Amino acid sequence: MSTNVVILAAGKGTRMRSTLPKVLQPLAGRPLLGHVIETAKKIKADHIITIFGHGGDLVKSAFAHEDIQWVEQTEQLGTGHAVKVTLPVLPQDGISLILSGDVPCVQQETLQRLVDVSTTTGIGIVTLTLDDSTGYGRIVRDNGKIQAIVEHKDASEAQREIKEINTGIYCVSNAKLHEWLPKLSNDNAQGEYYLTDIVAMALADGLEIASIQPELAFEVEGVNDRVQLAALEREFQAHQAKNLMQQGVHLIDPNRFDLRGQLTVGQDVRIDINVIIEGECHFGDNVDIGAGCVIKNTTIAAGTKVQPYSIFDNAIVGEDVQIGPFARLRPGAELANEVHIGNFVEVKNSIVGLGSKANHFTYLGDAEIGAGSNIGAGTITCNYDGANKHKTIIGDNAFIGTNNSLVAPVKIGHGATTGAGSVITHDVADNSLAFERAKQVSKENYQRPQKTKK
Ligand code: UD1
Ligand code: CA
Repeated sequence: MSTNVVILAAGKGTRMRSTLPKVLQPLAGRPLLGHVIETAKKIKADHIITIFGHGGDLVKSAFAHEDIQWVEQTEQLGTGHAVKVTLPVLPQDGISLILSGDVPCVQQETLQRLVDVSTTTGIGIVTLTLDDSTGYGRIVRDNGKIQAIVEHKDASEAQREIKEINTGIYCVSNAKLHEWLPKLSNDNAQGEYYLTDIVAMALADGLEIASIQPELAFEVEGVNDRVQLAALEREFQAHQAKNLMQQGVHLIDPNRFDLRGQLTVGQDVRIDINVIIEGECHFGDNVDIGAGCVIKNTTIAAGTKVQPYSIFDNAIVGEDVQIGPFARLRPGAELANEVHIGNFVEVKNSIVGLGSKANHFTYLGDAEIGAGSNIGAGTITCNYDGANKHKTIIGDNAFIGTNNSLVAPVKIGHGATTGAGSVITHDVADNSLAFERAKQVSKENYQRPQKTKK
């Protein structure tokens, strides 16, 4: 049986007050629609059909890499009309899960349960019981069986008291969608083609309407404005934080933690407050992340300690490394085990070997540093000549004095030493000392200028 996912994403999202279409607004760093597509992929949908309208080209190009069928709804005539425009591409057999592009958090397990209850009946709905059901379509039941969905604007006083609402998530047999959707009318308070009218058609066909409720309410929360977007962001983050804590991560404060991507962890990882993790990251056993770090697409191996306010972007960090505070690892930074990278040290496209140290105020760009070397405070690899980048190669057990400029391309040998304040423009042989500085001038009994009296 083929399983399709149909995603309604044609709405404008006027209340976002944004030039960006609503379904492209980010939640945890990923467009709202991207979350729905990810979930559709997890349930192994055979076809993902997305209905687009407003901002169509932008929406399509944002997901150009995905295997999606796009169907345009040029005029937004209602949710029923939206699904109807997919009929030419909708298979005749199998089932369709109908989702909204602006309801990003629905979980795979919930959709699986919906499919399970719907396959025998041919139609199933995700509902939710709310304290305040204002605005939503109400679920009308008789003897526990669903009789109708009545939109708020069409509901009677008594129906408006109903707390069980339609979340807008459905599972319907494709054969029935082909049969029912052409028969929808727009004779209602909003003059729209309501998808919810298929409930009456199902009952007329003698079908029972299955329903389930989500485990967590945030799964079915929609986003209409930035206030709701921010609220849902916190709920989504709380959900992710809880998952990580259940895996054994020590989050000092789950309310001050943001994961915009995927994080996999070993045991006893500790993360202090206000850390932002983006993209794909992995932290090994006992990794300790200080407050305020921003870590993107980075692997940090076991036992490494990161002090506060350090920034990582596409870096690879070995075991038992010490980093920060205020360190910056840029793309291509690769630190071997036991390396020390201290405050105000920037590393870009460079390999730092086992146990080497750059503890203070340093720029290492396009460098290869061996094991056991010490890079003095204030050392700069001058890797850029204004046109091209060049490499600095430093051997094992080298000692680079304080405040050196290493003018690349340049090679400093194993066991070599450079004197403080040197501008190194020539290669330095293994085990030799190189320094470059003007001779010191000393004047005895020197009198400093005195302040003139007025
Ligand atoms: C709909 C349901 C309501 C339910 C609510 C849950 C109907 C008639 N009503 O109401 O029972 O409680 O969702 O949030 O279905 N869209 C299109 N094309 C259109 C119209 C809508 O793509 O022509 C998309 C919207 O972009 C949105 C989704 O469909 O993603 C839902 O549309 P919306 O207008 O928000 O439906 P509601 O009136 O809120
Ligand atoms: Ca809505």
